[in-house]
Amino acid sequence: MITAEENIDLCSVGRGTLMGEFFRQFWVPVCLSSELVADGDPVRLMILGEKLVGFRDTEGRVGIMDHRCPHRCASLFFGRNEQGGIRCAYHGWKFDVTGKCLDQPNLEDKTKYPAGTPAYAYKTCESGGLVFAYFGERQDNPPPLPEINAIMGEGDERNIALTHRDCNYMQALEGDIDTSHLGFLHVGGVDGERLDLSDPEAFTVTEKAPKINVTETNFGTMYSAQRNAYEGTEHQRYACYLFPFWVTYPGGGGLEESKTVNAWVPIDDESTMIFNIDLSRAAGGGKKALKYKDGTPVEGLARPLEYLPTTTDWKGRWRPVKDATNDYGIDREWQRSGGSYTGIVGIPLQDQAIQESMGHVVDRTLEHLAASDRMVVLTRRVMLDAALAWRDEKMLPEFVDRPEYAREARGGDMIVPKGTDWLEGYEEVMARIKGYVAPKEPAE
Ligand code: FES
Ligand SMILES: [Fe+2]
Repeated sequence: MITAEENIDLCSVGRGTLMGEFFRQFWVPVCLSSELVADGDPVRLMILGEKLVGFRDTEGRVGIMDHRCPHRCASLFFGRNEQGGIRCAYHGWKFDVTGKCLDQPNLEDKTKYPAGTPAYAYKTCESGGLVFAYFGERQDNPPPLPEINAIMGEGDERNIALTHRDCNYMQALEGDIDTSHLGFLHVGGVDGERLDLSDPEAFTVTEKAPKINVTETNFGTMYSAQRNAYEGTEHQRYACYLFPFWVTYPGGGGLEESKTVNAWVPIDDESTMIFNIDLSRAAGGGKKALKYKDGTPVEGLARPLEYLPTTTDWKGRWRPVKDATNDYGIDREWQRSGGSYTGIVGIPLQDQAIQESMGHVVDRTLEHLAASDRMVVLTRRVMLDAALAWRDEKMLPEFVDRPEYAREARGGDMIVPKGTDWLEGYEEVMARIKGYVAPKEPAE
């Protein structure tokens, strides 16, 4: 299905690589807005294999730049964030958030370099509590942010969780679009006979082999997992992949209220920062805990991760306490008894254990794909083709400059009369959705 060369193309994210160059043409979330404090400590960030420094200046503006000072490459991480810029600790050159050189105090003849020497700064903006950077060719005229409802929508109940994962972004992203694993890895220990079926999500437990429908779209790809539901009805559970690494996953309840998205942002080839954003509760939806008929909730699914203390290391942020060094806290007795499929607590940790167990970059030539993998197969192909079109013809998906396409990319579920076309059912809901909140203009 995929050659060794294609696997390298799909997974490599540095400058000069096929996917790395493609990814750079889109806005990339780099950290939480709250991680950069005005005049606070500079923060080491690694994105797409690039070592960066992030800081917020006195006026609140955000700077994301190569961590190396343009003078002699000392790390600006050791610089002083002071009065409208960052001052390198080696010879005192100072730069504002746009990279403009403000001061070169060690130069005897200050008229010789009137414009100074700029730092390697990227375009930035903030939206929905996230800092974005743009690493692409249009530094003077970057594209608009995609209008993803979980990010652009208003509401105080936006839930944002970042998590470091020790594997390539693609095998982590593929977990998000590989829906049939849900019935095993996550809810394989739930007794379907005893389950309260009033929540349609329960059908992910009772029917383990959904029909997978897939299609290419103007923002990327989408699928539905189709299952028999109540008498004369079917359960359709949708998710979308959006260029370059977003997935609107079906965790926020019904399709109409759901406002969820994951960004699978490559730190480098072997590690990923997951940005999980959920605005569903503010929209009147939100995930309910699965329940048994007697009203007791199914336990151990939505347990949030515990994190190690943050360090200033390039990979020192948002690392879970449970990881490969402690086998993710697996409880073999719990697994043996059938109470849990994995013996590992919580959906995020279960995904982490399995995805990291495949190795940092999985060798896809060893796979034996099946009908359940249709979405994974399609998405890989669409991504590779789009990246090749950029490399060979300088053509990007229209979506880059049509951010409104993202409005129609939702993850969520619904019950429909048996025989309803999966795409027509979806489009009907999209046509009904009103009250979309117009996005704010990205700040310079
Ligand atoms: S290396 Fe930064 S001012 Fe000299
Ligand atoms: Fe999962």
